[in-house]
Order: sequence, then C-alpha cells, then structure tokens
Amino acid sequence: MTFQIAEQTYTTKPELYAHLVTQLRSLLKGERDFIANCANFAALLYHSLPDVNWVGFYLLHGDELVLGPFQGKPACVRIPIGKGVCGFVAVNCETIIVPNVHEFPGHIACDLASNSEIVVPVFDGEKIRGVLDLDSTTIGRFDDQDAEGLNELVTVFVAHEEGLME
Ligand code: SME
Repeated sequence: MTFQIAEQTYTTKPELYAHLVTQLRSLLKGERDFIANCANFAALLYHSLPDVNWVGFYLLHGDELVLGPFQGKPACVRIPIGKGVCGFVAVNCETIIVPNVHEFPGHIACDLASNSEIVVPVFDGEKIRGVLDLDSTTIGRFDDQDAEGLNELVTVFVAHEEGLME
C-alpha cells in the first residue's frame, strides 16, 4: 500500500505518520483555540489516512463523552463513560484497536458501514480530556503502527494545548 499526501507518496505507515506530525505542528502553530485545533487535527487525519470513514473527538463533559469536531457522517452525540469503545477507553485510558467492531461487546454503531475502529485517549495532565476515534469500513484496518503514530500525534497535540510548544 502507498499513501499519498500533497503530491508525495509514502510507502510505510511510520513515514506517513512522521509527515503528519510535521503537518500537525504547522496547523497548530500560534493557535490556542482548543475546538479549532481539534477540528483541524480531525480534518488532517481524515483527508490523509487511507481507508477511514470517520475521524473525530469525543470530549469529556461530566460523566459522559460528547461529540466534538469530526469528519464523516453525523454521529451519536453522547456516550456514557464505560459504554461503547470510546467509553471503554475513557475508563481504561489506553489505546484500543478493535479489528472487528461487531465482536466488541457494547460497540455503538454510528455509521453502519464501519467495521473496525481505533480509539486513543486524549489527556489533560493526568486526567482524561476525551478520546480520538477513527473508523474504517475494512476489517483489521488498524494495527500497532497506527496506534504508535496516532499516539505520537496526540502527544504533540496535547503538548501544544498544555502550552509546552508554540
Ligand atoms: N463506535 C463508537 C461510537 C462512536 S462512532 O464510531 C463515531 C463506540 O462504540 O464508542
């Protein structure tokens, strides 16, 4: 598989994610609005990663996750903590790869076309601030290289939001 961004072709996922880190840094540079930054982050991933049909944030409000900036079809707005894949990650605070969502107990189907999913926690210091959720129509679309690349991107994003970067 090859990956195409801005007329460049990448042959490996690590190469692609390294490029996305550079692009994310430049999108965030000088901008402090959290929602705007979430929106551009979601759009960058949606339009750069092959074979994804939904990319977006669910943000923690009290004891539920509420839909944040995203790209893809309209999605369920509120997910109680502990429910679905996103709610599971909000409790466990670890990235989860779900190769086949139909085998995940309690999976919440927003887009019926989705068959696999990866959810990455987004922290605010020690506490969970929300999750980044990506869906694909392909079973087994996400692997450890996606988990690693997405975690690196989220780390860059969180460092920016915490004011550790420009
Ligand atoms: N599948 C998620 C719900 C969000 S949608 O995929 C956009 C879940 O089970 O938490």
